[in-house]
Amino acid sequence: MKQGPARRRLYFLFAFAILLYQTPPIAAQSASSHPIESGSTWANPLTDAQIRDKATALLRQMTLDEKIGQLSQLPGSDSSEFKETVKQPMEEILKQRGAGSILWVSDPKEINRLQHVALEQTRLHIPVLFGLDVIHGYHTIFPAPIAMASSWDLKMVEEAQAVAAQEARAAGIQWTFAPMVDIARDARWGRMVEGAGEDPYLGAAIARAQVLGFQGKQLGAPDRVLACAKHFAGYGAADGGRDYDSSYIPEEQMWNTYLVPFKAAVDAGVGSLMSAYMDLNDVPATGNRWLLHDVLRDAWNFQGFVVSDAFAVRSLRTHGYASDLQDAAHKAFTAGLNMDMASGTYLKYLPVEVQQGHVSMQQIDEAVLPILETKFRMGLFEHPYVDASRLEPTLNDPAHQELARKVAQRSIVLLRNEGSLLPLDKSGKTIHSIAVIGSLAEADTDLLSMWGALVKPGPSVTVLQGIREKAGSAIHVAYAHGPNLSRDFPSPFENLPITAALKEQPSQTAQEAHQSIDEAVALAKQSDVAVLVLGEIDLMSGEYASRSSLKLSSHQEELLEAVSATGKPLVLVLINGRPLDISWAAEHVPAILEAWYPGSQGGNGIADILFGDANPSAHLPVSWPRSSGQTPIYYNHNLTQNPETAPDFKSRYWDLQSTPLYPFGYGLSYTSFSFDNLKVTPTANVGGVIEVSADVTNSGARAGDAVVQLYIHQRAGSASRPIRQLKGFEKVALEPGAKRTVHFKLGKDELQFWSPAEKKWTVEPEQFDVWVGGDSSAALHGEFRLTK
Ligand code: NOJ
Repeated sequence: MKQGPARRRLYFLFAFAILLYQTPPIAAQSASSHPIESGSTWANPLTDAQIRDKATALLRQMTLDEKIGQLSQLPGSDSSEFKETVKQPMEEILKQRGAGSILWVSDPKEINRLQHVALEQTRLHIPVLFGLDVIHGYHTIFPAPIAMASSWDLKMVEEAQAVAAQEARAAGIQWTFAPMVDIARDARWGRMVEGAGEDPYLGAAIARAQVLGFQGKQLGAPDRVLACAKHFAGYGAADGGRDYDSSYIPEEQMWNTYLVPFKAAVDAGVGSLMSAYMDLNDVPATGNRWLLHDVLRDAWNFQGFVVSDAFAVRSLRTHGYASDLQDAAHKAFTAGLNMDMASGTYLKYLPVEVQQGHVSMQQIDEAVLPILETKFRMGLFEHPYVDASRLEPTLNDPAHQELARKVAQRSIVLLRNEGSLLPLDKSGKTIHSIAVIGSLAEADTDLLSMWGALVKPGPSVTVLQGIREKAGSAIHVAYAHGPNLSRDFPSPFENLPITAALKEQPSQTAQEAHQSIDEAVALAKQSDVAVLVLGEIDLMSGEYASRSSLKLSSHQEELLEAVSATGKPLVLVLINGRPLDISWAAEHVPAILEAWYPGSQGGNGIADILFGDANPSAHLPVSWPRSSGQTPIYYNHNLTQNPETAPDFKSRYWDLQSTPLYPFGYGLSYTSFSFDNLKVTPTANVGGVIEVSADVTNSGARAGDAVVQLYIHQRAGSASRPIRQLKGFEKVALEPGAKRTVHFKLGKDELQFWSPAEKKWTVEPEQFDVWVGGDSSAALHGEFRLTK
């Protein structure tokens, strides 16, 4: 943009802003006469009251149709469901009624074009909010959310999502459907990859960090986007881990576990929430008034707006909850759902609902108001367009790639390292050749997970490239592909226009697969070390990617065992979105790294860890099951009548150990840490604060980061309490031999729980255990008492 006209526009805008404060706001003038194509430097100067006034004044000018336009998110990509309901092209609707939002458009030119339509060809010129699933990056793709959660590094997670926001905003995306904060305790559920794992405390901390990263301290901050905490609520508890299946969650688990990260997101100022697809205790979340009204509005005083998941309003009929689409619109709307994502059901049936008197104009106004307020708060009226000149420099900022590499390094969990096989010596003195094996070693887009297909990812560094780069000319690196990876039942995402970039590897006959295994074995035999890169292609984890088994699919287990039989030192690198059944590997493969979907810089991050240029510091945000038969599994379960410590009868399977393969919070390092000198305030009143401190020492020979974790257990009370609960953590960088005292405070937030007996939050005068250590099996123990 040239200087002169920009400045003139600014003056004009300023003058106009003054005018706006003095006269009732007329959105028509504000929007259409100032198409400033920049959104980066604006920070909202308005108070909440001023925003409310502006939104209210605009609302007064709106017709019912225009209001319902704002309650609707139009699909920017072809949708048969939408067309079937609203028999009108999307753009005509936009012109006639405006739109709250448009989704699935990621091309900045198209965003600008549609925004021009909204601002110049509609009566009130209300800008559209463009939404997209920018889950862990837009161009620079960061490790998948479960990986970022494994870093336990809140500041870094915030920084990563701030970069994601900046890139997205530069491309015209103003709203991301993230963070996903669903608690997931069942690795069969495909969407575990998108969340922060099983624990409400860690989940809440990561949710908060992500909201701050996406939105900044306040919605409307420059270069940030509106965040959307999803899927409200209980989606991760799907029966049998099958995506979309019903969840049955008792109230105490809702409050104490599943709702906790949502509350944290709301407290961090998240501007929107997305209602989930599934039935929650037989009432679909999208029509669930308890969730959308009683919890969200009454208990939490949420001031933003709620959008449904895609087509979820229409799906209320499919659930067998609504008798027809009008009933679906009625049930979703009266439950408290503001915006209908893509189904067109509100557009078609809310006008009828008002005409027939089932829904009042006041109810409509109440639903529209937070959407308009959000648009004012975000400065969309002043800065509706993308400034195309900022796109390339923003996307190609080398600092973003650097950060992505750091996040990858800090998200990779070292699960096993027998005989200190890792780090590998890159000098070429001890290792002369490496066999890199597995189709995922060559994969690029698969490192980005499913959502990489919907955004505009830049190039990614494969594992093979990362290793080759690191090995340079000192070590010969050869590659064998191994068997192709494919699902038994294909994913429909391969066929959708918006996700068509997702492709499976072609299926193979058993003979072809075995031949590829033989080639890999032959290569391993000629090499000093084998690095096997196994796991899941992007389509195997994520939405519509649940599995009954957690085994390494597509002949990968055979490949692993065959290469292991060569007797060569073997490193297993896992690329995947969920814990897999690696029980055999855990006994036979000396070194195992969980790299998750590590993002654009994944190959470099993995190579940094393999060769010791970075020291692993990530810890599992989930309990790692031994097999799928052990799921759902979570560390913070109750003691039960027959706990593990009981002499004979135990709450367990007779064919499997009770413990997970790796406990929640677990992760190794190339150095070691010891924990001691635990100090605990022995007693405090209910309402008081317990102080806990412990020393952590780097007892090894390398610098490294420890994740110091604090767990508590309430010994008795109005309800049985979990055996352990995470209530504090800190990631601490320590030079060899260095010691640090870490301090924690246990106040009301940490000590309270929602009591099913009392039907309320309570802190109880009881005896408590406390442990501090490096994972959820920490041994350093203390206790304290709360008194009345
Ligand atoms: C469906 C998914 O469940 C949700 O997470 C996503 O945000 C929407 N589609 C929009 O793409």
